[in-house]
This record gives sequence, structure tokens and C-alpha cells, in this order.
Amino acid sequence: MTQIFTIAIDGPAGAGKGTLARRLADHYRLNLLDTGLTYRAVAHALLQVGLPLDNVSAAETAARQVDLARLDRTVLSAHAVGEAASRVAVFPTVRRILVEKQRDFARTPPGAVLDGRDIGTVVCPDANIKLYVTASAEVRARRRLAEIESIGGTADFAEILADIQRRDERDMGRADSPLKPAADAHLLDTSEMAIEAAFLAAMTIIDDALAKRNKA
Ligand code: C5P
Repeated sequence: MTQIFTIAIDGPAGAGKGTLARRLADHYRLNLLDTGLTYRAVAHALLQVGLPLDNVSAAETAARQVDLARLDRTVLSAHAVGEAASRVAVFPTVRRILVEKQRDFARTPPGAVLDGRDIGTVVCPDANIKLYVTASAEVRARRRLAEIESIGGTADFAEILADIQRRDERDMGRADSPLKPAADAHLLDTSEMAIEAAFLAAMTIIDDALAKRNKA
């Protein structure tokens, strides 16, 4: 039987998990899925036709239509779409539909790196490696501001911080699949750590697990 290798990365918005996931998928030659894009795709579909974000049956229909091969990051990365995504992500039926697609993706050889909020706890509870990547809300807000300014934009730090705190509350406080570290997750706090250092720390954890697996 083909051995599938799964790396689950969870954490709040702006902690650096997306960059880390991309680096790890490249390095270990695994497929990559940013599961946040699936929730964003549902929110975007509703926004586009002007439907309210609490229209559960429309959200379910949009979730069924999500095609993992056609997630357009350019369209979906808008800040407003992320905010809207966290609203549709509270509906258990919408989550079930998307989680099924995410699990199918994870089962495809040679395996995958998936990043999101509930990968280690719900989507892939048997993942070979679970990482929980976090950073203080202030650091995440500062990074977001730097990102906006680097492309010539302007924003207010206090507003960004309030936004991040609101999204954290919604993601950690929802009844279904709240954001939290899995009991067996390795914690990586990137508040005072550059992404390169986080990548090296993750590699050490993964190489160790691979060595043990090869010995078994
Ligand atoms: O990671 P990203 O910011 O793209 O996620 C957008 C929103 O989608 C999150 O704030 C969260 O509410 C939701 N999400 C989720 N479960 C995941 C990934 C994202 O609930 N696995």
C-alpha cells in the first residue's frame, strides 16, 4: 500500500502558517492545500450574488461547488473575503462538505501539507505531524501592516489589530471545530522568530518523525 504522509498546520490568521506550509510542501515534495481558501470560496460566491452570509442553504450549495483545483488566490485573498469566510465557517453543514473534500485531497499520494484551523483536530486527526503556529496578535497586526505598506497601501494599526482580535474570537469561540491546538501538536510561536527559523524548527520535528518511521 502507498504510504501517505500528512502534515497538519493550524493557527490563527497571520501567524505565518501559509508561508511555512508552502516551504514544507516544496521541501518534502508533498501536495499543498490552504483550506482557508475553501471557506473563502464559499463566502466569495455568496458576496458575488449579494446573498447574506447567514443563508445556510446557499452556503451549502456554494460549498458543494467548491473545486479544489480552481481556487483563485488572487480573487480570494481580499481582506473582506477572509472576514466573510469566518462567518460562513461557523455552519456545521458547510464545514462537513468542505472537510470531506479536504480529506480526499489529503488521501491523494504522496500526501499533503494542509493548513487551516481544524486540520490536526478534525480534518486529519491521524496526521503524521501536527504543528500549531501562533504569534501574539500585536505581532500579527504589525506584519499585516508591513505587508500592506510594502505594496504601497496605508492602514491603521489599531484597526488591523481589532480586526485580528475579532477574527480570533470568532474562530476560537465557535461551537463546531474551534481553533485550538491538537493535544499532540508541536507549538511554534513565531512572535520572535523569523519564518526561516520556524521552517528549520519544523524540519527538525519532521525529519525526526521520518527517521522513526523508517526505522519502524
Ligand atoms: O486562513 P484564512 O484566513 O484564509 O481563513 C479564512 C477563514 O476561514 C478563517 O478565519 C476561519 O474562520 C475559516 N477557516 C476555518 N477552518 C479552516 C480554514 C479556515 O474555519 N480549516
